Amino acid sequence: MHKKVTKAIFPVAGLGTRFLPATKSVPKEIMTLVDRPLIQYAIDEARAAGITEFIFVTSRGKGALEDYFDHSPTLEAELERKGKTDLMEVLQDTYMDSGAVAYVRQHKAMGLGHAVWCARRLIGNEPVAVLLPDDVIASDTPCLKQMVEAYEQTGGNVVAAMEVPSERTSSYGVLDVKEDMGNMVSVKGMVEKPEAGTAPSNLAVIGRYILTPDVLGHLDTMEEGAGGEIQLTDAIAKEIQASDNVYGFRFRGQRFDCGSKAGFLQATVAFGLAREELKDELQGYLNELAAVKQAAE
Ligand code: UTP
Repeated sequence: MHKKVTKAIFPVAGLGTRFLPATKSVPKEIMTLVDRPLIQYAIDEARAAGITEFIFVTSRGKGALEDYFDHSPTLEAELERKGKTDLMEVLQDTYMDSGAVAYVRQHKAMGLGHAVWCARRLIGNEPVAVLLPDDVIASDTPCLKQMVEAYEQTGGNVVAAMEVPSERTSSYGVLDVKEDMGNMVSVKGMVEKPEAGTAPSNLAVIGRYILTPDVLGHLDTMEEGAGGEIQLTDAIAKEIQASDNVYGFRFRGQRFDCGSKAGFLQATVAFGLAREELKDELQGYLNELAAVKQAAE
């Protein structure tokens, strides 16, 4: 029987430079997809996967993110006075059980691996999920829940993976596949942002991981990798060599890269179209745009 995955790390200490100037004062994870901040999507996904302890790796300027999970007595009293029970229900999702949230600071943005390492003392000898909130995944079964099921079968490290076109592999961590078993692949190596033409496959890792404590141990060496950052990929690659216990998992669902402007806009349209109260108006607008473009051609 494998240890249950009940803890999750949310690394949110990055600088978010691709969204400057907004991220000068608004944490990227608080930016809003329709009407919910990115972090809310990640929290909902983690909860649905059975996570009960939520660890945020934060940094200077992320105060709005910490406040987001607090109760807001003035707002609640006002909504109650006005009888807005539907809005009070909307707020319920933002509340966390007392003591379920912990914040750890990353004093300097030294890379994703370093951010995860900063949470090591809160993880101890347990498996942990890592969710990057700027990857938002639309799916019937939440992505992390699918991964927890895969972890329960294998007991190994599980990284979410998807096929990307060859010209895009240099933007991702890429898996060197040992055996392809369909939705799971066993892995013999992993490289971060391989140079064009050198990627071992087209299977790219996205921001969902289930890691055994050994991976966090490999981060102790603080070795810099691609881009001069301490890379989580390098620690996972070491674990592949040490234990041969890492699997890529082809999740079912559509991933949006909300860390990029184009990805964020695509997600806004897709999530807007998925909302009953918005879809007709939004679709009408998109049809109008398409008609204008066609007429111009
Ligand atoms: P990104 O590579 O998207 O970097 O980080 P970023 O700083 O957030 O954004 P850009 O590239 O400057 O626009 C991926 C995830 O890793 C976290 C980020 O917060 C994000 O969730 N991260 C990255 C850290 O927590 N610490 C770091 O040192 C680097």
